[in-house]
Amino acid sequence: MKISGTVARGPSDKRKYEGSRNACQSIETKLWDILNQSEIPSPVRIMDFGGGDGETMAPIYRKLDAFNKQMIISVEEPHEDSLRKYKELIDNTSMTCIDITYSGPFQDYYGHTLEDLRVMNAYPQHLQDRVLALHVLYHLTSIFDDPFDPYENMKQAISAMYTILKPGGQMIIVLEKNEFCLIGAASLKCSEVLFPHKTKNHKLLFEVWKKLLFNGGIADVLNASFPMFKASVQQEEVVHNVVLPTLEEIGIAVSIGCLHGLFADQSPFDQRILQFCVDYVKSDGYKHGLYLNSEGMWCFPLNTYYITIQKNTNE
Ligand SMILES: C[S@@+](CC[C@H](N)C(=O)[O-])C[C@H]1O[C@@H](n2cnc3c(N)ncnc32)[C@H](O)[C@@H]1O
Repeated sequence: MKISGTVARGPSDKRKYEGSRNACQSIETKLWDILNQSEIPSPVRIMDFGGGDGETMAPIYRKLDAFNKQMIISVEEPHEDSLRKYKELIDNTSMTCIDITYSGPFQDYYGHTLEDLRVMNAYPQHLQDRVLALHVLYHLTSIFDDPFDPYENMKQAISAMYTILKPGGQMIIVLEKNEFCLIGAASLKCSEVLFPHKTKNHKLLFEVWKKLLFNGGIADVLNASFPMFKASVQQEEVVHNVVLPTLEEIGIAVSIGCLHGLFADQSPFDQRILQFCVDYVKSDGYKHGLYLNSEGMWCFPLNTYYITIQKNTNE
């Protein structure tokens, strides 16, 4: 989900979110930090899963360009128009060229070998220095899935990313939402009220993200499947602030986050979800850090998790 906003923080917010969390960093700055540009080789091979139109990565490519790094980019993105825009972006960045682009979903990678996927042109021929999934993994499991297996979905998707990663390379996953932040709490409450028979799925999905991604359990899963390598996982939580003029707009923003992935295109009740989120923001938003700033704008903290997985050779 992309919502523009500043990262200014209010005093009550600060009290509530103090601790080891890292505040006041823009997504671009954080990504730049994590990508560790000083160690980026030239040429660098990057594969971006669910890359969208490349808007999030565009400033990073421009910076790498300024550092004279040559970039060879592969993109997987099921939305054709977004993929076309991503290609245009690459064409307009001087030190960058496209390797492969694949317009199928992540699920196409499940259960296939590296060789199969290369033949399908879903993987590039070379292993990659960096593999990205920025705000994508929540699209892979809907609480309406039947059978519902978020653990298997995460395992398959992350294994597909790890497979194409070079030894010594880094995978970066960006994800937001848990049961405590405004969007996560609203979405959970929403399914409790509107889809009570799916609440169990919803809770399990949050559990799986927590266990595998926020608490680093994915390392054991990868190490069991790829015994030649040792995965090391680092996780950092950054609080970005969403700033909007009205509570209705906050409600709409929350409903977009709420709909993403969890109810993805499978819910016939979108209007009800929207209304639910607007009402929830008004009644319970303050419990999750919503406040009115001195300029009369409504703000709420958006907790974003940056998960880095390094693929090391097993000595
Ligand atoms: C919130 S956008 C993020 C785009 C980009 N990574 C960024 O950060 O700007 C989520 C992207 O995931 C893509 N997506 C949705 N379902 C997907 C799936 N099953 N497999 C791969 N990508 C998917 C969407 O088309 C969209 O481009």
